[in-house]
Amino acid sequence: MDTTIEKINESSIAKASEIIKNGGIVAFPTETVYGLGVSAYRGESVSKVFEVKGRPSDNPLIVHIGGIEDIGQATENPTPLALKILNKFSPGPITVVVDKGVKIANEVTAGLDSVGIRIPMLLEARQFIKACGEPIAAPSANTSSRPSPTNAMTVFDDIGGKIPMILDGGSCEVGIESTVVDCRGEIPMILRSGKITQEDIKNLVGACEIATDFSKVRSPGVKYKHYSPSCEMLAIFQKDNSFVQAKVDELVKQNKNVVLIGEEKLSSIDNVIFITLGNTVDDFMKNYYEALREGETCGDVIVCVLPFSEHNAEGIYNRVRKSCGGNISL
Ligand code: TXA
Ligand code: MG
Repeated sequence: MDTTIEKINESSIAKASEIIKNGGIVAFPTETVYGLGVSAYRGESVSKVFEVKGRPSDNPLIVHIGGIEDIGQATENPTPLALKILNKFSPGPITVVVDKGVKIANEVTAGLDSVGIRIPMLLEARQFIKACGEPIAAPSANTSSRPSPTNAMTVFDDIGGKIPMILDGGSCEVGIESTVVDCRGEIPMILRSGKITQEDIKNLVGACEIATDFSKVRSPGVKYKHYSPSCEMLAIFQKDNSFVQAKVDELVKQNKNVVLIGEEKLSSIDNVIFITLGNTVDDFMKNYYEALREGETCGDVIVCVLPFSEHNAEGIYNRVRKSCGGNISL
């Protein structure tokens, strides 16, 4: 299949919405990462998305709507907690989990009786969803287990040839996936961390927990390998340059090409290919996935250094921990 990449605008949105209405798949930009969109009402089409990504069928998809006024498309029971959180942080990088609406295909939620709902910040993404007239189920537009794509070319690298169209909205502003928060209980429970932090939600509703016990598999996605480069990866948290240099030297001694990713200050480290992630937590989130994809093409091992504490940076910490498969240097 030929895959066309078209700048996202009124005319490409019109074409894309026709593809969706005919049961097809379109990749589209959001402020977090690119999504692989399909009508959330059509089970057969949703199954194709799982196939294209190589995604395990028990990992549910997020349903995207064009505005809070459309929430009834996805649930009959938006809890007061979910509405409060959406009203504060949406459109934006947050997904609320509530009871699944009857019209949402069972394939979307992998048989769960709950559904994740999100309203993207990117205006063109909402225009696209509105044009489709149906809610859009969309996982990140990468091959399963790979870093998520934050520009149209990266979507093409992973999914090109498998879908008819990619809407190009440039680089994603946020760069990591939305915060997923279960709003069915009394206290909101973060199932996946993101730019909107535990503290942000606590400040709004007084309490918020981060799920750590996934034995009940509340969010099936967390049990799979995720966001990983094709080469080895090592993470280092809050250490000075001399610690980093010593780790690098060990790896170089093993004849490994080392790619170092982190803050500007690390440019003085010797014997590495250095890729900067910027200086702030926001910079790191925005640049992280592309740095992994660039790093794997030129190194045997990627060393990622996070200089800040985890407080208010739990999204990037979560992704780095997963990418390196727990290979953290203490
Ligand atoms: O920012 C994002 O959320 C991006 C963009 C495209 O919107 N989407 C995204 O989708 O990251 P995906 O499929 O890569 O990740 C969805 C996550 C998974 O961890 C999944 O398990 C969880 O959301 N999830 C979805 N529905 C759920 C539900 N009903 N209950 C618990 N977790 C759910
Ligand atoms: Mg994903």
